[in-house]
Amino acid sequence: MSDAPDIEALVAEAEEAIAGARTTEDIQQVATQVAGKKSPLSEANRSLGRLDPEARKQLGQRLHEARAIIDDRLERRRTEIKFAEMQATMQADLVDLSEYIPGTVNSPPSRGRLHVVSQTRDELEDVFVGMGFEVAEGPDIETDWYNFGALNLPPAHPARGMWDTFYLNLGPPESTLLRTHTSPVQIHLMEAAILDGGLPIHAVMPGRCYRRDTPDARHLPVFHQIEGLVVDKCIAFSDLAGTIEVFTTAYFGPDIHSRLRPAYFPFTEPSAEFEVTCTICRGAGCRTCSQTGWIELGGCGMVDPAVFQAVGIDPDQWTGFAFGFGIDRCAQMRHQIPDMRALNENDIRFLRQF
Ligand code: FA5
Repeated sequence: MSDAPDIEALVAEAEEAIAGARTTEDIQQVATQVAGKKSPLSEANRSLGRLDPEARKQLGQRLHEARAIIDDRLERRRTEIKFAEMQATMQADLVDLSEYIPGTVNSPPSRGRLHVVSQTRDELEDVFVGMGFEVAEGPDIETDWYNFGALNLPPAHPARGMWDTFYLNLGPPESTLLRTHTSPVQIHLMEAAILDGGLPIHAVMPGRCYRRDTPDARHLPVFHQIEGLVVDKCIAFSDLAGTIEVFTTAYFGPDIHSRLRPAYFPFTEPSAEFEVTCTICRGAGCRTCSQTGWIELGGCGMVDPAVFQAVGIDPDQWTGFAFGFGIDRCAQMRHQIPDMRALNENDIRFLRQF
């Protein structure tokens, strides 16, 4: 029995190691060390087989008690560590709600802010109001007639494909849809003007639009446009070009200019796409503008006589121009936001910058 293990010393060592454990990882390691398969305790257990029955019984009993003590100490320490770690986490995540109590000098209530797209809409409205335009709005849900038909896009017109949208099953008499552009507001304004003698019209119409577009760096399925409509006597294409240039320099700054490129829209003739100097490279050419130095902002043109006829305005007496461009695209250009999807992610760290 001279080589019998010193069980008191073994337990004392184990207790010391257990008391020294500070973290969950520590206690797992200590548990393996003092009670695992290769621990002195298990080693001693394995030696029992070599003893005579009486000695085996006695030592076995003592080893059993030793293991019970060690297991107990391990369990207690595990619980203590778990509690301490939980407290540390809670302390780290502590939110001082008193910060949000309104009305005290040290903690004035934090103020919300408008989303950057709403701010952009307001700024655009301000620029156009400064130029003599009124602001009008129209519904998000339109009938086929307002979104397409009155805008010279009869059923099955191929250009409808560019503006595919979400149709709503609201029943007869006409199919209803989420508007794909703000151009239907032109029709509402012209109809109202006919009824109440409201011609001429000088208006901008901001609003939300919907398309079956896959989100990417420059497209969202739900986005915003601002439409412009002027109906007056003797309006010429140069009035349109001048209006767009004045807007561009007023909104983006004196070194940003506009240019018009021939395009096709069924409701304007002639039509153009208007582009502004790329705000990222200031016209030098970069990846964002595909090295052209220009970024497309919207479409425009002279109101097609077919549209005037659809609403009952005499195209021989009245002429006009219209334009429509993306508000989200404007915000992107103005603030140099590389990916438009950031606008909808609701990340407070992004939104707080504006
Ligand atoms: C139109 O929507 C025409 N209604 C514009 C118009 C109005 C032309 C009046 C003539 C007269 P277009 O589909 O190109 O045109 O869209 C105009 C602008 O809306 C685009 O240049 C872009 O700035 C913005 N836009 C279009 N689709 C999206 C989208 N999915 N996400 C974000 N912005 C978009």
